[in-house]
Amino acid sequence: MLLKTEALTKNFGGLTALNKVDFEIQEGEIVAIIGPNGAGKSTFFNLISGYYPSCSGTISFMGKDMTRTPTHEFASRGIGRTFQTTNLFTDSTVLDNLIIGYRSKTKMGMLDAIFNTSRARRDEGASREKATEVLEFIGLTEVKGQPVGNISQEAAKRLAIGLALVTEPRLLLLDEPAAGVNHGETNELAKLIKKIQQTGTTVCLIEHKVQMVMNLAHRIMVLNYGSKIAEGTPKEISNNERVIEAYLGGAAHA
Ligand SMILES: Nc1ncnc2c1ncn2[C@@H]1O[C@H](COP(=O)(O)OP(=O)(O)O)[C@@H](O)[C@H]1O
Ligand SMILES: [Mg+2]
Repeated sequence: MLLKTEALTKNFGGLTALNKVDFEIQEGEIVAIIGPNGAGKSTFFNLISGYYPSCSGTISFMGKDMTRTPTHEFASRGIGRTFQTTNLFTDSTVLDNLIIGYRSKTKMGMLDAIFNTSRARRDEGASREKATEVLEFIGLTEVKGQPVGNISQEAAKRLAIGLALVTEPRLLLLDEPAAGVNHGETNELAKLIKKIQQTGTTVCLIEHKVQMVMNLAHRIMVLNYGSKIAEGTPKEISNNERVIEAYLGGAAHA
């Protein structure tokens, strides 16, 4: 097992955003987390990527307890992620975004950079090499010199995924990777996600596009009001009464 949470809980003031969630991710699979808006999906990611501390419960990754691991160590331990709203530098080029991303996630210190130490020069070569490799993998080599502000929404989504790939995560967390792109582009992003899994990276994604989830995921967890209400294969989930009710209930209140 790659990742395991037990009774993982997060409160914000009086609100329980995540309520005693038990979940396991197996090495090599694609798992999806679905649920209505505000269900706690992003909060779950924020906890298992160390972005927020949990209030109670435990997280273990590759057999090691990570519950109290500091935020900056999650990437080096093998958990990479994207954010729901992409934080790219729009004035910088596609390639530079990857290089900056690589440096900020590896150990190149500010002083090394300022004094241009031999270590900084070595890291510079490594970061350019890694960025070029990732560019090719995500299919953006042709636009590498373009400012990010000029590339398509779908290309920006690929780049956000690329930024999470530069540290070679064992587990990649994707928060709504296909939000705001059209149907054809969604299929292209799904292919990229499949390719990531096929090269040996375990993927956990949050996604509203049901068809994409059903096609990609081996297993799905459904959250509602912070609690896990169902877990199973795409087929089991699409026939689950509680899931159907949560979605219809959500639609009725929307
Ligand atoms: N940093 C935060 N501070 C306060 N409340 C938050 C914070 N992050 C999320 N929440 C609340 O927690 C609940 C779950 O949010 P979230 O995990 O973002 O849901 P989802 O991603 O499923 O739409 C929501 O009610 C949201 O308003
Ligand atoms: Mg969210």
